[in-house]
Amino acid sequence: MQLGVIGLGTMGANLARNAARNGATVAVYNRTKEKMEEFMKTHGKEGRFIPCTTLTDILKAIKPPRAILIMVKAGESVDEVIHDLLSLQPNDILIDGGNSHYKDTERRQRELTKKGIHFLGMGVSGGERGALLGPSLMPGGSKEAYDHLEPLLQKMAAPLDYARDDTQQHQKCVTYIGPGGSGHFVKTVHNGIEYGLMQLIAEAYHLLRDIGKKSNAESAKIFAEWNTDPHLSSYLLEITGKILRKRDLETKQNLIDNIKDIASQKGTGKWVVEAALRYGVAIPTIGAALDARIISNQKELRVRRSHEIPFTANIRKGEDLTEDLRIALLLATICTYAQGFDLLERASAEERWNLRLTEIARIWRGGCIIRSVLLKTFQDIFAGKNDEKIRLGAAFSETAQKRWRAVVAVGAQHGIPLPTFGASLSYFDALRTAHLPANLTAAQRDFFGAHGYERIDTPGIFHTKWE
Ligand code: 6PG
Repeated sequence: MQLGVIGLGTMGANLARNAARNGATVAVYNRTKEKMEEFMKTHGKEGRFIPCTTLTDILKAIKPPRAILIMVKAGESVDEVIHDLLSLQPNDILIDGGNSHYKDTERRQRELTKKGIHFLGMGVSGGERGALLGPSLMPGGSKEAYDHLEPLLQKMAAPLDYARDDTQQHQKCVTYIGPGGSGHFVKTVHNGIEYGLMQLIAEAYHLLRDIGKKSNAESAKIFAEWNTDPHLSSYLLEITGKILRKRDLETKQNLIDNIKDIASQKGTGKWVVEAALRYGVAIPTIGAALDARIISNQKELRVRRSHEIPFTANIRKGEDLTEDLRIALLLATICTYAQGFDLLERASAEERWNLRLTEIARIWRGGCIIRSVLLKTFQDIFAGKNDEKIRLGAAFSETAQKRWRAVVAVGAQHGIPLPTFGASLSYFDALRTAHLPANLTAAQRDFFGAHGYERIDTPGIFHTKWE
């Protein structure tokens, strides 16, 4: 198998190495020649690489039908590369492995299809380590192109790490997602879930630190213990334990204490919220996580207000929240995944992508950032296993709910923001409330705008002259 890779940044370079290690001959190109030469110097002996200094070279280096993976910054750079690949032939395959917007992917696909060129928009998750050793791959678009590439993608993808079931351990984290921009859409939703789960863990750390008065080492131990929990174990919990233990080489203190409380974003978090609005799906945990990042960037304002509006909470000594937090984290995590899958299901119906949620849950069980044991449960539920559904439902027992509510209440009482714990709890409560106050909202709409309302006793739409 031959593959061209355009863009040798961290992800591109590691995917090129991954492909070569798995037997492919890889033609490599980077806009700045020095980077390509540096790549060849450092990794050239790891496999069969063909160094290319122009885009024409890369097209000459591999045999038709040529498969070329584009790993450049999402946005205009992708269009520029496609535009500059002048001598592409019908049946050649272009794969965009960046975090592109799914609507851009669909536009590019339409343009390339006219020329007989296959286009795959492929979500790639797992960061730089995953790209090299085995990512989770979410390719969508031309099925013909996927079939051609499948043997290589199967080799490159991660195995199912979180495989409780031994019979599935040989499976790989790649599947054909669906037509159009569905591959990139699924990656965007993956990132939304990633935002939610990361923020939930951050809030748990905040409570452990400021209410539980835990040292970093103590919190690290708690996260490590939670990571052995058969329902909670996840990659993000695993790395959190490691992060909290890490020493700063300069100061010898815990590195975490020297990191500014500002979290950035590259765009997929915003896109998932926009998509939720477009398809009319509630994803409050993910939305709250995005807002939390935005507010974290208002550092100056927060510092000023912390002096202007002080609040001293009465923290009860020796209050141990750990067990409540473990349960709250589990339930809110379930809500976060549920919101992501709900969005996938709705978008799939509207776009006619025919997404297989069972397969998506499966390929997220290894390689990617949101991998966890819970995804096996979701996979089983989507496959129709009713006992798993009952088991997941049982997690929301009244006792467990009380613990979750206690966590949110402690945050409120002590002035600690818990946007994702709170949003998840309200989401859960709203979905289990038979009689919401939306009757009043409907009446208000009718009062000021004659928008009509439905009655509980008679079908139809009604309007009242309120005054
Ligand atoms: C992954 C990650 C990866 C990257 C995000 C970060 O699945 O490997 O999601 O794609 O970390 O782009 O996104 P933010 O900059 O928005 O946090």
